[in-house]
Amino acid sequence: MSDQGTISAFFEEDHDRLDALFQSFQTLKRHNFLKAKEAFKEFKFGLQRHIVWEEDLLFPLWEEKTGMSGGGPTFVMRAEHREIGRQLEAIHSKVAEQNPESDGEEAALLNLLGSHNMKEERILYPSIDQVTTQEERETVFRSMERIPEERYRVCCGIEHA
Ligand SMILES: [Fe+2]
Ligand SMILES: [Fe+2]
Repeated sequence: MSDQGTISAFFEEDHDRLDALFQSFQTLKRHNFLKAKEAFKEFKFGLQRHIVWEEDLLFPLWEEKTGMSGGGPTFVMRAEHREIGRQLEAIHSKVAEQNPESDGEEAALLNLLGSHNMKEERILYPSIDQVTTQEERETVFRSMERIPEERYRVCCGIEHA
């Protein structure tokens, strides 16, 4: 299968984009906090969007196709998303009080994301590409665009423009 239009290619690229935003936050936070905060905000919204895409569209499609849900890989991925969310909020509360001392929380998040993304990239996404047709994948991409922003552009529990 060519990379064109695959779940693997699209979602891996989004992982890379998010990694780069987080790295900007880390590089900037002790020099230009305002800019660092902007990068963090984009990272947070982007990661929240990525998780909504996976949990609302990608995982249900895979579960439907394979008949695997409770106890399967998507069950594990959803549980990891909750842990990732907790670390994200731990950093977020420091960012909210202009406190750059979040190295420990950042390392914990990167650690979680590293192994989570690797499992998705090596196992889950290729498997989704294998069990779906090009048409089904196109439906996923179109549905992703229709997810309302208020599902993921949330910060401190409120929606941000
Ligand atoms: Fe994920
Ligand atoms: Fe992912």
